[in-house]
Amino acid sequence: MRSGSTALPDFPWDSLAEVKATAHAHPGGAVDLSVGTPVDPVPEPIRAALASVSDIPGYPATHGTPELRAAAVEALRRRHGIEGIEPDAVLPTIGSKEMVAWLPRLLGLGPGDTVVIPELAYPTYEVGALLAGASVLRADSLFALGPQRPAMIWLNSPSNPTGRVLGVDHLRKVVEWARARDVIVVSDECYLALGWEAEPLSILHPSVCGGSTQGLLAVHSLSKSANLASYRAGFVTGDPRLVAELLAVRKHAGMIVPRPVQEAMTAALADDEALAVQRERYERRRTVLQKALHHNGFRIDYSEAGLYLWASRGEDAWQTLAWLAERGILVAPGTFYGPKGGQHVRVALTATDERVEAAAERLQ
Ligand SMILES: Cc1ncc(COP(=O)(O)O)c(C=O)c1O
Repeated sequence: MRSGSTALPDFPWDSLAEVKATAHAHPGGAVDLSVGTPVDPVPEPIRAALASVSDIPGYPATHGTPELRAAAVEALRRRHGIEGIEPDAVLPTIGSKEMVAWLPRLLGLGPGDTVVIPELAYPTYEVGALLAGASVLRADSLFALGPQRPAMIWLNSPSNPTGRVLGVDHLRKVVEWARARDVIVVSDECYLALGWEAEPLSILHPSVCGGSTQGLLAVHSLSKSANLASYRAGFVTGDPRLVAELLAVRKHAGMIVPRPVQEAMTAALADDEALAVQRERYERRRTVLQKALHHNGFRIDYSEAGLYLWASRGEDAWQTLAWLAERGILVAPGTFYGPKGGQHVRVALTATDERVEAAAERLQ
């Protein structure tokens, strides 16, 4: 049998079985900070919106409802200062992971093309390049690319796993460099609403793109901003020509967001209050965990935004993992995100207040 998965890396979380068993043996139970999965309630108005259209038997539109596209444009304007996006340049996605994993393929990239991803990156960028048969290059600077002309560059600010925020100058330089070479820049902005010590900027902010979306795509997710990870809710926007191309292929491929989820997304994108409440929860947990880690001699690098603390004890990440697992705390090793993560662990802010307090107590 031919197997498509052989070309892909091992699924990293499978390797946590042993430390997981150690953490779960703790008498107070495990505190799982190894994955960024939301734990707080789905806001009631969003659930009501989902239920309100549960009796629609027909197929939904791949492009989403006009109301959803308008709500996305408005939310980008209100929350992130992005102007001038046409509603037709918004395309809903079944969460953002599938878009990350299939984007190179959907845009027709293949063997001979190179996709640039951050040195430390969400693993699915690499998977997406491999699914298209393209090559992957890890680089954080244009300088590191030398004379190469990649087909696509992924940016992720705030970053998973480091929480690093790219400044306006960095973003602008990448856009200018890429436009001069006809390279597509795709910015994964799923943590854009979670700035703590820095204000994250979209690639589509006028100060970055000069008011033109040419050659640019921004990938958004409602998983973390609205606790909708289980609904699978995201969208992509930017250059209308690129979005139209994606829409054309996705119509053929059946990549459609379910109609009730489209309704829930429309409600979530209008609900800045729910977003503010969620931000506060994460900010509180971040403060508690940051203090507890510092108290135990951890150094925390970057982490000025997003859903993670990028922490190090100056030793091999798996040693740190074992040390925390003895205390019933589970985190992810930096190596999941790239070879440069060997001395860091990624600590997610996604546990209940009770579990976060339990972790802090164990780190007294
Ligand atoms: C950087 C980044 N991009 C995309 C995703 C995918 O999120 P979702 O598929 O839930 O939208 C994640 C999930 O953790 C992520 O960290």
